[in-house]
Amino acid sequence: MFKIIILFSGRGSNMEAILKAKIPKVKVIACITDNSQAKGIDIVGQFRKPLLIIEQGTKTKEVYNAELFHTLKTLNPDLIVLAGFMRILPADICDYFYGKCINIHPSLLPNHKGLHTHKRALENGDKFHGATVHFVTKELDGGPPILQYPIPVREDDTEETLAERVLVGEHKILPLAVKLFSKGGITLRDGMVLVDFGAIPVV
Ligand code: GRF
Repeated sequence: MFKIIILFSGRGSNMEAILKAKIPKVKVIACITDNSQAKGIDIVGQFRKPLLIIEQGTKTKEVYNAELFHTLKTLNPDLIVLAGFMRILPADICDYFYGKCINIHPSLLPNHKGLHTHKRALENGDKFHGATVHFVTKELDGGPPILQYPIPVREDDTEETLAERVLVGEHKILPLAVKLFSKGGITLRDGMVLVDFGAIPVV
């Protein structure tokens, strides 16, 4: 089995999209949240997956990160999926899991790294906006893109309508990336994404 861990902080709809996809030969060995109030916790329960709540609480960031790192290493996943995980992964975790950690970001990277992406796309007058699945590296939202889902920005779009339509795309490309990855079709080498189409007979 191809073992994955999903990290989330809030609503958990991207995690739900992965769980719903029931990807063959992919086993979700843990869903980890940094927020004991996260709505996504109910979803983990519905799908009967193992849940770990690792909150910072009164700990320092360093202690928190060390605890998270230890947990991830112990679980030894084939892939870590950041699905709305609102913390910045420290450099040692990014390095240790280089090529084994992906994130969903609500913009067409490299445009609009960071937060408030829909607002910034509108303010910038972007003609296209969307979502990106990318490898996680030390550079925030800066790792190589794997899949993108572009949508045209409409004249009457608001932050909310844009977020809604981008989310539809997020729910498509994140499970798809997990599926491709689990089939051995995607590798990160020296900062480049290699796609082995021979390993991906059916998408
Ligand atoms: C998504 O838009 C994701 O791209 C961003 O945060 C949001 C999380 O949504 N990083 P959800 O928790 O997956 O519903």
